[in-house]
Amino acid sequence: MRLDKMLANSGVGSRKDIKNMVKSGIVTVNGQIVKKSDIHINENTDKVCVNGAPVEYCEFVYLMLNKPAGYVSATEDFKYPTVIDLVPEQYRHYDLFPVGRLDIDTEGLLILTNDGAYAHNVLSPKKHVYKTYYAELDVPATEDDVNAFANGITIEGGYTCKEAELTLLDGETPSALVRICEGKFHQVKLMFKAVGKTVTYLKRIKFGEFELPDDLPLGEFTEIYIKRE
Ligand code: URA
Repeated sequence: MRLDKMLANSGVGSRKDIKNMVKSGIVTVNGQIVKKSDIHINENTDKVCVNGAPVEYCEFVYLMLNKPAGYVSATEDFKYPTVIDLVPEQYRHYDLFPVGRLDIDTEGLLILTNDGAYAHNVLSPKKHVYKTYYAELDVPATEDDVNAFANGITIEGGYTCKEAELTLLDGETPSALVRICEGKFHQVKLMFKAVGKTVTYLKRIKFGEFELPDDLPLGEFTEIYIKRE
C-alpha cells in the first residue's frame, strides 16, 4: 500500500498534509526518514512513525450512531440530509456507509462502517441478528398482540414475519419493546399496523451484541470494536 494512503487511512491528515509532513522529514519507515509519500510499504509489518510516534494502521472502522429523526440511512440523497453528514471530521476519509437502514423518522442505534464483509454478514437473513426497538403507540398493545407477534404476524403485502418478542411497558404513553431477527422495510410499523396500532415514535436500542448507551446524545457517534471473522 502507498505510504500516503496508509497515513491518510490512519487519520494522520489529508493527502496534502501528509505530503508536506513527508517532505519536512518527520516521517520514518523502519527508522529511516522517507522523502516521498508515494512509496509502497507493508502496512502490517513496516513500522511507520510521525514525529517519532508510531502510527497504527486501521483499515476498518465501526461507528455507532444515535441517529436523529430527519436523516436518511444512505450515503447520498437528493432531498434529505444523510447519516454521512453527521460523521465527524476525523472519520471523513473512510468511505463509511450505514449497515442497513432506519426510516427517516426512526431514531437510535445505527452502525456505520467501511467493512462491506461485516455489513453483508450481519444483514444476511441467515444470521438472525436480533434488533430491539422501543415503540410508542397511539393505543396500548395487548396480550393478544404479544401472542400474535410470537406466532408470526402477517404484514401488508402478505409476508409472514418470523416470531417476534413483544414486551408491554407501563407508563403514561402506550409503549412496548419489540425484538425481531429480520429487517423488512418498515417492519415494526407494519407489524403494529397489522394489529390495528400506529407507531408514533420508534427508536432502535439494540443491534446484535450492541446496545445504545443511555449517554450517547442524538446525532453523536461512538467508536465500537468488532472482531472480524
Ligand atoms: N421498523 C420500522 O418500521 N422502521 C424502522 O426504521 C426500523 C424497523
